[in-house]
Amino acid sequence: MSSKVALLNRITHYIVNRKGKQMRPMFVFLVAKMVANGEISERTYRGASVIELIHTATLVHDDVVDDSNRRRGFFSINALWKNKIAVLVGDYLLSKGLLLSIDNNDFDLLKIISIAVREMSEGELLQIEKARKLDITEEVYYEIIRQKTATLIAACCSLGAASVKPDSQDIEKMRCFGELIGMAFQIKDDLFDYGEEKIGKPTGIDIKEQKMTLPLIYVLNNVPKKDKSWLINSIKNHNKDKKRVKEVIAFVKQNNGLEYAINKMKAFQAEALNILKTYPESTYRSSLELMVNYVIERKK
Ligand code: IPE
Ligand code: IPE
Ligand code: MG
Ligand code: MG
Repeated sequence: MSSKVALLNRITHYIVNRKGKQMRPMFVFLVAKMVANGEISERTYRGASVIELIHTATLVHDDVVDDSNRRRGFFSINALWKNKIAVLVGDYLLSKGLLLSIDNNDFDLLKIISIAVREMSEGELLQIEKARKLDITEEVYYEIIRQKTATLIAACCSLGAASVKPDSQDIEKMRCFGELIGMAFQIKDDLFDYGEEKIGKPTGIDIKEQKMTLPLIYVLNNVPKKDKSWLINSIKNHNKDKKRVKEVIAFVKQNNGLEYAINKMKAFQAEALNILKTYPESTYRSSLELMVNYVIERKK
C-alpha cells in the first residue's frame, strides 16, 4: 500500500491499523475451500485481498455520504481529514484493488468484482432516492439492501468458487448463497441502529437521517391511521429531536418492528443454510455454517 505521497501513507497506515471483522475475505476462503476440497490457490488470496480493499473503499466513501464520524471504534477518515481527502482515498483504495486483479490477469475475478462495485453504487443512489420516502415499500427496501450490501457478499462467494473452479456451476450457486447472507447481514446492521450496544459506529442515526429501514417500514404499514400520522409527523418534522426519536424507537419496539425484521433475517439465513446443505459434509461446510450463524448473532 505504500506510496510516495506522505499524506496518503499516513492515512493508509491509519486504515490498516483499524481492521474490521474481515468477514468478506473469510467467505472467499471458506467457499473456495468447500468447493475445491481445501485446494485453494494464489488466485483465492488475491481475490480475498481485492474484496477487502473494495469493501474498505466503500466504507470510506459511505461515511462521507452518511456524514458519519465513527468507524470501527475510531474516527472515520472524513472526521479526521475531511471529505475531500476521504473521497480521494476511497478512489485510491478502489483502484489499488482493481489493479491487483488486472496485474495478475484475474479477469474473470475482476468481472465479478466490477459488477459488485457498479451495483453498490446504484444501491447507494437508490437509497438516497427512495429511503427517505415515508411510503417506501418492503420490496424497495429489499432492493436497496440487495444492491448496496448483498451484492458484495454475493461477489465474495462466487469469486471464492471462481478462483478455484472457473466455469463451474458452483459460481452461480455460491452467488445466490452469498446474496442471501448479505440480505440477512444488512437487516442485522439496520437492527443495530435500534439498539444501545457499542458497535464501533453511531447508532440511532437512521431515523435522524430519515432513513426508513425494515422495522420502521413494517410498523408504518401495520398500525392504525392515527398512529401512522404521529409516526410520519415525528419523522418528517421532529427527526432531530432526541426525545421524540427515542419515542419513535420505543413505538417501533412496542409494535413488533424488531421482531418482524428478526424473523425476515432468519428466513434469509435459513435459505442460505439450505444451499449449503446441497454440498457434502466437510470442515469447510461446517465453518461456513458457523459464519452464516455469526452474521445474525454478531455483537458488532
Ligand atoms: C459494514 O460492514 C458495512 C455494511 C455493509 C453494513 P462490516 O460490518 O462488515 O464492516 P467491518 O469491515 O467489519 O468494519
Ligand atoms: C454500508 O451501508 C455501506 C455500504 C453498503 C456501501 P450503511 O451506511 O447502511 O452502513 P454503516 O452502518 O454505515 O456501516
Ligand atoms: Mg453508513
Ligand atoms: Mg450508508
